[in-house]
Amino acid sequence: MQPTQSTKSNLSPLVPAYDSILALAPYQTGKPIEELTREYGVSDVVKLASNENPMGCSPHVTLAVTEQLGQLARYPDGNGHYLKQALADFNDVTVDQITLGNGSDDLLDILARSFAGASDAIVYSQYAFIVYPMLAKMQGATGIEVPAQRFGHDLKAMSQAVQDNPNTKIVFIANPNNPTGTQLEHNVLREFMDSVPSSVLVVLDEAYIEYSPESNNRALLDEFDNVVIVRTFSKAYGLAGLRVGYALSSVAVADLLNRIRQPFNVSRVGLAAAAAALRDQDFIEKTRQINDEQMRWLEKQFDALGLGFIKSHANFIMVEIEVEMEDTTATVIYEALLEQGVIVRPLAVYGLHNWLRITVGLAEDNLRLIDTLHSILTED
Ligand SMILES: Cc1ncc(COP(=O)(O)O)c(C=O)c1O
Repeated sequence: MQPTQSTKSNLSPLVPAYDSILALAPYQTGKPIEELTREYGVSDVVKLASNENPMGCSPHVTLAVTEQLGQLARYPDGNGHYLKQALADFNDVTVDQITLGNGSDDLLDILARSFAGASDAIVYSQYAFIVYPMLAKMQGATGIEVPAQRFGHDLKAMSQAVQDNPNTKIVFIANPNNPTGTQLEHNVLREFMDSVPSSVLVVLDEAYIEYSPESNNRALLDEFDNVVIVRTFSKAYGLAGLRVGYALSSVAVADLLNRIRQPFNVSRVGLAAAAAALRDQDFIEKTRQINDEQMRWLEKQFDALGLGFIKSHANFIMVEIEVEMEDTTATVIYEALLEQGVIVRPLAVYGLHNWLRITVGLAEDNLRLIDTLHSILTED
C-alpha cells in the first residue's frame, strides 16, 4: 500500500531532512470535476471519488459565510474561541481539550510532528488511510504496517507490533476506515487501549463518525490520557472546500498541539462556517438517512451486477471488479467510467488492484454510476 516510490532526486547538492522523504509520492486526490472536463471534454460529470457530501452543506452556513465577507482583511481569531466553545459543548469536553486544524489532515500532520521523530516508529494497519505511512516517511520515522484482518484493523496484531517495537510513539487507527469502510467494536478498541503503554499516543481518526454514530469513542477520552480523537467538517458536514477539522485530547496533549500548529491555521470563513454547520444537526440526520438509503440501493445493484463489496459504515463503498475480460483491472474500469463522466477512486496505491472505492451520491448520481458500470461490464 506504499505510494509509488521514487528515490531518484535532482536536488543535489541539496539534501532533504530524511532519505524517506525521497520515497514519498504526493497524495493522490480524487480527480477534480474541472480536470475531467478539461481532459475528456465531458461536461456532465458525476464525482463519487472524495467522500464529499452530495447534499452540499447546511443552508445556515451560507449566512455565516456571507457575514464574514466584509471582514476578509482581518486575521481570524487564532484561538477559534466560538468554534471551540461550540465543539466543547457538543462533545462534552473542556475548551482546553480541543485543537483546531486546517482540515483533519492538518491535525494528523501536527500530531506526527509533535510526537514522532527519526528514531521512532508509527504503527498503522494495511489498507488504512494512506496519509499515515506518508507521515511516517515525512518524519523520517519507521512506518510499521500491520496486516489487515478481513480488510479491517487487526488490533491484537497491532498491539503485538507496539510491544515488538518499543520505540513506537503513535498508533493511527481510522474508525470507520477509509478506504475499506470497516468499523471496530468498542470492546475490542478498549482492550487495545488497555494493552498499549500510556507513552504511546493512540490517534482515533473519526473522519466518518457522523455516518456511524455507534463507532463514537469519545468515552475513551475520560479514561485514557494517550487517546486523541480527530474529526473533520469535510465529510458529513459538507465543508471539504473550507478545510476545518478538530482534535479532542487530554489538556496536556492539546497544549502541545496548540504550540505546534500554525497561529492562524483555520480561516475566518472556516471558523464561522463550521460553527454554523455544527448547530444544524438536522442536516446531519438527513445526510445520514439519505446515505443509508442510497447505500442499501447500491448494495442491491452490486449484487445484481455480480460485484463483491465490503460492508461499509461510512459514505463510500469498496467494490471488487473481477472482470472476465483479459488484462482488465479495476483501473481500466476506472478509466472507462471517467470517459463517460463518472469519477470514482482506483485503489492500486493501496495494493487493492481489483477494487474501486465509490462515494455514495444522490439517487440520480448512483443511477448514472450503475447504468454506466453496467454498460461497461457487459460490452463485447
Ligand atoms: C480517514 C480520513 N482521515 C482524514 C481525512 C482528511 O480529511 P480532511 O483533511 O478533509 O479533514 C480523510 C479524507 O479523505 C480521511 O478519509
